[in-house]
Amino acid sequence: RKIERLGTLLRSMRRGVAFTGAGLSTGSGIPDFRSPGGLWTRHRPIDFDSFLSSAESRREAWRRKFAIDDATNGAAPNAAHRAVARLVEQGGIATVVTQNIDGLHQASGVTGEKLIELHGNGTYATCLDCGARHELAEIRPGFEATGEPPACRICGGFVKSATISFGQPMPAEAMRRAQDAAREADVFLVLGSSLVVYPAAALPVSAKQAGAALVIANREPTDLDPIADLVLRTDLVALLAPFA
Ligand code: OAD
Ligand code: ZN
Repeated sequence: RKIERLGTLLRSMRRGVAFTGAGLSTGSGIPDFRSPGGLWTRHRPIDFDSFLSSAESRREAWRRKFAIDDATNGAAPNAAHRAVARLVEQGGIATVVTQNIDGLHQASGVTGEKLIELHGNGTYATCLDCGARHELAEIRPGFEATGEPPACRICGGFVKSATISFGQPMPAEAMRRAQDAAREADVFLVLGSSLVVYPAAALPVSAKQAGAALVIANREPTDLDPIADLVLRTDLVALLAPFA
C-alpha cells in the first residue's frame, strides 16, 4: 500500500528534503493560489515591474497585503507542518525548502540552516534600495492614515513585503542552497505544490536525476507525477498527522 511505502521511506531517509507549497498551509486556513477560491483565482498578481513603476500598484499591493493578513491572522501550524518539523528533529529531513511566505515552518520549530525560503517571507517588509527591515505593524498605521505606500525611513526607497513577486529576482543564495540539498537528497518530498512556478519546480527534477526517490503528495495531479516514485493524491493533514 502507498501509505506503507511512504512510512518506509520516511523512516529510512537520512538526507530527505521536504519541498513545500501553499497546499501545506490550507489546513491552517490560508488559501492557496490556484485552487478554486485561491488567491490567483481572485486577483491577477501585481508583478515586480508594476510595483516599481506605479504608485497605484504599490498602493494596491499594500492594500491586498493587509487584507490577506487580516483574513489569515492567527494562522498556526497544522499537523502537516508538525510532521515535517518532527522528521527534521528526528534527522530524516535534512532541509525544508519552502515556497511559502507564511512563516509557519518557523512557527513549528524549523529554523536556521535547515529552512530555505525561496519566495521570501511575508511577515515583514524590506526597503528595495537599502535592504533595511521594516515591521508591518510600524508601516500599517501610516499607510492607513495617508493611503500612501510606505517609504524607507532611512533612505526614502520603496518598502515592499519581503516576498518575491513575479518578475523579481529570486534570492540567489537560497536557490543555490536548495539546488545543493536537492542533489544530495535521498528522498525528495513534494508537499502541496502545483509545481508550475519555475525555477522552484525544477528542484524535484534535479533531485530525481541525482538519484532521490521522488514522492509527490498533492490533492491535484501535477506535471511531474509521471516521473515520481510515489504519488499520493490526498489531503496533507490527514496523510501526515500520523507522523506529527
Ligand atoms: P498552488 O496554489 O499553485 O498549488 C497548491 C497545490 O496544493 C494545489 O495543486 C492543490 O491541489 C494542493 N492542495 C491544496 N490544499 C491541499 C491539501 N490540504 N492537501 C493536499 N494538497 C493540497 O501553490 P504553490 O505550488 O505553492 O509564488 O504555488 C507556487 C508559487 O506560486 C507560490 O509560492 C507563489 C505563487 O505565485 C510567489 O508568490 C512568488
Ligand atoms: Zn532604504
